[in-house]
Amino acid sequence: MKFSPTIAPSILSADFARLGEEVEAVVNAGADWIHFDVMDNHYVPNLTIGPMVCKALRAHGISTPIDVHLMVKPVDRLIDDFIESGASSITFHPEASEHVDRNLQQIRDGGCKAGLVLNPATSLSYLEHVMDKLDIILLMSVNPGFGGQSFIKSTLTKISAVRKLIDDSRCPIRLEVDGGINADNIGDIGLAGADTFVAGSAIFNQSNYKKAIAELRKKLDTDS
Ligand code: DX5
Ligand code: ZN
Repeated sequence: MKFSPTIAPSILSADFARLGEEVEAVVNAGADWIHFDVMDNHYVPNLTIGPMVCKALRAHGISTPIDVHLMVKPVDRLIDDFIESGASSITFHPEASEHVDRNLQQIRDGGCKAGLVLNPATSLSYLEHVMDKLDIILLMSVNPGFGGQSFIKSTLTKISAVRKLIDDSRCPIRLEVDGGINADNIGDIGLAGADTFVAGSAIFNQSNYKKAIAELRKKLDTDS
């Protein structure tokens, strides 16, 4: 099952000094989800935002789904904190967890959608025994840690392989891709089988967010 195209702006590239306004602006510009990158200076060499910021966005009135991408190790405590702070979905990297099955269950038990994130060099074998516990498979098309990197082309083959795994499983799992997505490559990423698209710099580095999101959507319409 392929979900209808979902655009998830990554607030990593937003102006953090005006975060509430920035999120409102992308929501008004047509964002389907807000992608929320959590980095701990341990699993990845960068430090960003945590559950308090997610809670503050909810208190600010943001009702759009918040898609929390954990780039932290360990994940256990922060999963509970993000459930409590209003996350809609929570994804984590299997290498950062001692108990992948338990953490997926923990996320679903908290009422959120659960997902695994695979780095460019991470094997699809992590998915084999947990397909029924996944709502999202997130493929990284850059190495995690920073916005504004270039899309790694070999991800396209990996996307097709995961599309097949999902279709064969008949489980309702989203196929999300994150890193280096822009108007020039989103069509190919959609054709390879992705349905959920994270874009940071391709949206927040533009002066007109509405135009940037519309451009991404248009490429999906014309190329698929
Ligand atoms: C990278 C993050 C991405 C990043 C995407 O570790 O997970 O979400 O912000 O940014 P762009 O679209 O600029 O590659
Ligand atoms: Zn991300």
